[in-house]
Amino acid sequence: MQDFKFNNPVKILFGKGQIASISEQISPNAKVLMVYGGGSIKQNGVYEQVIAALGDRSVIEFGGVEPNPKLETLTAAIEIARSNSIDFLLAVGGGSVIDATKFIAAATHFQGDPWDILAKREPVASALPLGTVLTLPATGSEMNRFFVITNDTTQEKVGYGSEQVFPQFSVLDPETTFSLPLRQISNGIVDAFTHTVEQYLTYPVHAPLQDRMAESILTTLIEEGPKTLADPADYESRANVMWCASMALNGLIGAGVPQDWATHMIGHELTALYQLDHAQTLAVVLPSLLQVKQDKKKTKLLQYAERVWNITAGDESQRISQAIASTAQFFASVGVATRLSDYRVDQSAIKRVAQKLDKQGATGLGEHQDISPTDVERILTLSA
Ligand code: NZQ
Ligand code: ZN
Repeated sequence: MQDFKFNNPVKILFGKGQIASISEQISPNAKVLMVYGGGSIKQNGVYEQVIAALGDRSVIEFGGVEPNPKLETLTAAIEIARSNSIDFLLAVGGGSVIDATKFIAAATHFQGDPWDILAKREPVASALPLGTVLTLPATGSEMNRFFVITNDTTQEKVGYGSEQVFPQFSVLDPETTFSLPLRQISNGIVDAFTHTVEQYLTYPVHAPLQDRMAESILTTLIEEGPKTLADPADYESRANVMWCASMALNGLIGAGVPQDWATHMIGHELTALYQLDHAQTLAVVLPSLLQVKQDKKKTKLLQYAERVWNITAGDESQRISQAIASTAQFFASVGVATRLSDYRVDQSAIKRVAQKLDKQGATGLGEHQDISPTDVERILTLSA
């Protein structure tokens, strides 16, 4: 096992009616900025529950955070937080709203151009405290220190991590997700699955506990994902998918093991250039990436084939091919298409994405830092 530091201070408040309990988590004297998205919370009762829980506190609302949150939108929120001496941020929404809130938390205290935090990897020395009410199980943002922000002007989508932006608490009430469109439930399953794979399908370092935990998340998503799509009001399957998504990216399964993340890096470029949903990009990239990198990932691919997909017949290369095909079939079966052409993205994207990564200096992706722009072209060609 590799050395690691593990810290996850996020308090999870899981279950029906838990939004009410945020009143115990935020100081009665706090000046709260409540951050939300395009309005889904006003149609599913979540907004009313949050307002009731905040009670007499001074609350300013900032709505309109879009999917793949934009720097240009958040600049106004940073200004509001500063000029109103906000001392607590409450994110109510999916990964985009939570990521946006983390960025506002870091940027409000930051001296200088907030985009430099992401573009120049400026350290975040302090941030406003924040909490979240999660309404979309997918990213794990509710239980981690990462945020991903898009600069619309430069067409860049950049991720960042800081211990300063861990939420103090996150409410996970599966009932808040019943109003999700099927497309977003599908996206969430694929995102959580891919987060797990990116920390599992690398090379063995004798970390059987991390392996077994990752395999448990993957098999649970395979079993519960289709159930939650078939019956969106099935509380039990939704609750299990929700907890899988948090567990997939809260640092636990990635501690002490190599991590890949090339699928995400390539995927972020597809979103920045072609506006695909985050999970759609992952469904396009991951199966082809596994195919191109199958030699270096061979041992773990064989383990994945056997333990996740019960594939034991055939020679090694047949078992690996079947496992990769099963992955793509699973994504398609939960409703996320796996080819660029499915999203009307033409072949010119292949070179464009590779060149963009090259220009950013992202020339050695993956757990061996050996995925070059030429390899990215090979991967995307297989996904055309
Ligand atoms: O904006 P509203 O009206 O709330 O609608 C949203 C949005 O249109 C809707 N939605 C959310 N909860 C709902 C709901 N609609 C009905 N009922 C509900 N309960 O869903 C749409 C998509 O929301 P969004 O937050 O964009 O989705 P997701 O949670 O998949 O977040 C995606 C973003 O997270 C980033 C992605 O890159 C992307 O920008 N990621 C963040 C990570 C992290 N912080 O650790 C890791 C991930 O790999 C990912 O990169
Ligand atoms: Zn993701």
